[in-house]
Amino acid sequence: MEIRLQKYTSDESVILLNSQNERWIKVNREKYEKLDEGSKKKLLESYGLAKSANEKRKFRSVYLFLTHHCNMACDFCFLQCSPDIEIEKDFDSEKIMKYYDLLCSSPDTKLVVTGGEPLSRPDIKDILKCLSEKVGKERIILQTNGLLLNGEKLDQIKDHIGCIEMSIENVVRDEKLLASMEKRYAAINATGCVLSFSYVIDSDSEEYLKAALELADKYDAYFQMRFVEPIGNGAGYSLDMWENQDRLMKKSYLTFLDYVIDNKGFDRRYSAVIDNALIPREKCGGFGEVAAVHPNGDVFPCGNIVDKNMLLTNLEEEETIDGSYYDRDDVKSRFVTGEKKECLNCEYLYFCNGICGAIDRRYEYFAAYKKSTCRMKKDLLYFGMFVKKDSWSREEYFRSYRAFLMNEDIEKKVKRDVEKICI
Ligand SMILES: C[S@@+](CC[C@H](N)C(=O)[O-])C[C@H]1O[C@@H](n2cnc3c(N)ncnc32)[C@H](O)[C@@H]1O
Ligand code: SF4
Ligand code: SF4
Repeated sequence: MEIRLQKYTSDESVILLNSQNERWIKVNREKYEKLDEGSKKKLLESYGLAKSANEKRKFRSVYLFLTHHCNMACDFCFLQCSPDIEIEKDFDSEKIMKYYDLLCSSPDTKLVVTGGEPLSRPDIKDILKCLSEKVGKERIILQTNGLLLNGEKLDQIKDHIGCIEMSIENVVRDEKLLASMEKRYAAINATGCVLSFSYVIDSDSEEYLKAALELADKYDAYFQMRFVEPIGNGAGYSLDMWENQDRLMKKSYLTFLDYVIDNKGFDRRYSAVIDNALIPREKCGGFGEVAAVHPNGDVFPCGNIVDKNMLLTNLEEEETIDGSYYDRDDVKSRFVTGEKKECLNCEYLYFCNGICGAIDRRYEYFAAYKKSTCRMKKDLLYFGMFVKKDSWSREEYFRSYRAFLMNEDIEKKVKRDVEKICI
């Protein structure tokens, strides 16, 4: 049997990847080039690169969009939620359970309860209670802007969620709001529920990133550093911002690394965001691992997609999912790494999953967004693949990362080709 491996070569190292089972190894280039076929075969077998594809379970994550109504209207919101959108009356808790049962075949599916603003639903307590009885609270993540989370609501929901993920980009720039939200973060800490902060970075919010990190540090929260994506309202940002997205990303990474280093936060929860774990993928979660259910029964293959052309099914009309959906060329071109035509020649393909399938390729901003974000992605991948050493302590890792990003002169020469080996 012949297996095809992706081979990434720098001056010193060779990385070999079996993109089917996502296993890879890094070896010294000079030594690898001297190996005969038999020794190469042994090496690949001993690291599991010769095995066929991992079996993939369906729907590892399910997003339940409980409503599109929101008490805010963020400039970047990909769902374009706002107070003007009425809370959907037809999406009652009974239906949610039915939809959940139709979608969740696996006992360890992660369930993200989101919106719009999920806490704006009067029946949120009942919904979370029913879901946690079904799946166990530790698998439920509640995404919220937290503005409606008073003591009474927290008491009602705390036993039915494993993690509460709160958006804080509006909080850190408003002293009064911050003071009132801090009481809620402290109250969440007291419940033992895991706290995670989400911070969407655009050219305005970058200025407050350090304050956001201080907050995460203070309340022992995980931290999701999200760069605004051109989806929904996010697509309305100026071309100039997309052209400079890599500068914004770099500035934010440096702010982050400085904060970790200055505060010796190497083992704090918030520092996990920049771990740079390499996870090569042949397809993204949108290709069969994620289902996102909306209030009208629409199911999309990813939490960020609301493009009707990409509809997976509508559970009000059809209670099954037609598997041939994943045979469609337009679906593959959005979610299968090796089918994304804009990425085919990239030397980092598979270690980078390509441009997110939720982003519409037809608009002017796409080229600018791709050009600038890819510059930054490639730098980060070069560091993870060819500079980072497993032997480093956490402190060495953060310091080296910073030094790498500060040094404009590092030459990053990488070549990708295919190596065929007979097993
Ligand atoms: C749509 S919100 C729903 C939950 C809740 N209302 C909130 O804001 O946390 C879910 C997450 O998506 C993030 N988000 C929304 N639009 C985005 C965009 N265009 N790019 C990146 N993240 C975005 C929000 O910041 C939030 O963390
Ligand atoms: S990002 Fe969240 S808080 Fe902001 S408008 Fe969208 S749903 Fe509402
Ligand atoms: S770095 Fe850019 S071009 Fe390369 S695979 Fe990723 S998204 Fe595609």
